[in-house]
Amino acid sequence: EKKIYTLAIESSCDDTSAAILCNDIVLSNIVARQAIHEEYGGVVPELASRAHQQNIVPVVDVAIKKAGITKEDLNCIAFTQGPGLMGSLLVGGSFAKSMSMALDIPLIAINHMKAHILAHFIAEDGYEKPTFPFLALTISGGHTQIVKVTSFFDMEIIGETTDDAVGEAFDKSAKILGLPYPGGPLIDKFAQEGNPKAFPFTKPKVPGLNFSFSGLKTQILYFIQKNVAQNPNFIEENKADICASIQHTIIQILMDKLKLAVAETGINQIAIGGGVSANSGIRTTLKEAEKKYGWKTYIPKFEYTTDNAAMIGIVGYYNFLEENFSNADVVSKA
Ligand code: KG4
Ligand code: ZN
Repeated sequence: EKKIYTLAIESSCDDTSAAILCNDIVLSNIVARQAIHEEYGGVVPELASRAHQQNIVPVVDVAIKKAGITKEDLNCIAFTQGPGLMGSLLVGGSFAKSMSMALDIPLIAINHMKAHILAHFIAEDGYEKPTFPFLALTISGGHTQIVKVTSFFDMEIIGETTDDAVGEAFDKSAKILGLPYPGGPLIDKFAQEGNPKAFPFTKPKVPGLNFSFSGLKTQILYFIQKNVAQNPNFIEENKADICASIQHTIIQILMDKLKLAVAETGINQIAIGGGVSANSGIRTTLKEAEKKYGWKTYIPKFEYTTDNAAMIGIVGYYNFLEENFSNADVVSKA
């Protein structure tokens, strides 16, 4: 089998990432996280673009060195075309373009959301890949979608958020509790000691397979304000129970829609992706659903669920095989 070396670049949000793949095997997957946003309680687009510009060359250098190849070995360059923050996308896109010109190798523009889904096809010892068709649940700070996936190139969004993403629901709830950004992992941590039924929040009524999380955020805000007015130590005294209840409500919202999607499509293979799939409650609930409902669930390695270039590389590789190349005038799409 011919060896195809792909350099992949991901710069859609606040992580600068570069990966090298040999066919569907990841040789390196380097992610430079931008700590600068923590003090602002969210990603600041202007600061993100600047940090990408600073990080991109060293990150690519390290990825190539760690893979044990030289840039002359590369067969193609895949990059995130969008969706994402425009300034951030432009840095990775312009870099990828220049490098493909300099090396005279094909350039391949990749959709970030499809990459989150196809990350399941990265070759990993002991990881069973999903078979088509399957349903993908992509949950992160920027997206919440249920996608029906029929092949590498055919996918249909059958449900998505009408306002906030799941990760935002976690992060904004955490902010209300006075936790630092990004608060999702902290809610997860505190929730493990708490009672998920302590404080019942109501789930939004959204028709079909779409989601809404902004109402929940407002509900949590009023709930906290009311209780803190009566007891200034309310959050401290009930942190675990509050976090467990918030997390439980979010998981129930996701599970309700997944059950409906399975019923509507007759597909019971579920693959999850995006940073929120790191959530321990979601992982346990999905594993339980295998026994409870006869589903088959797929949860990739953590480093392939959050934003990373390896997932861009795997889609690049499949596009390379089909000779789906981009022209030099391809543009980023926010
Ligand atoms: O995919 P990702 O790294 O970046 C994008 O947003 O595209 O996802 C980051 C999101 C943040 O909202 C973060 O709070 C959330 O994933 N997250 C979690 C957990 N780990 C990360 N949310 C809940 N529980 C976690 N363990
Ligand atoms: Zn993402």
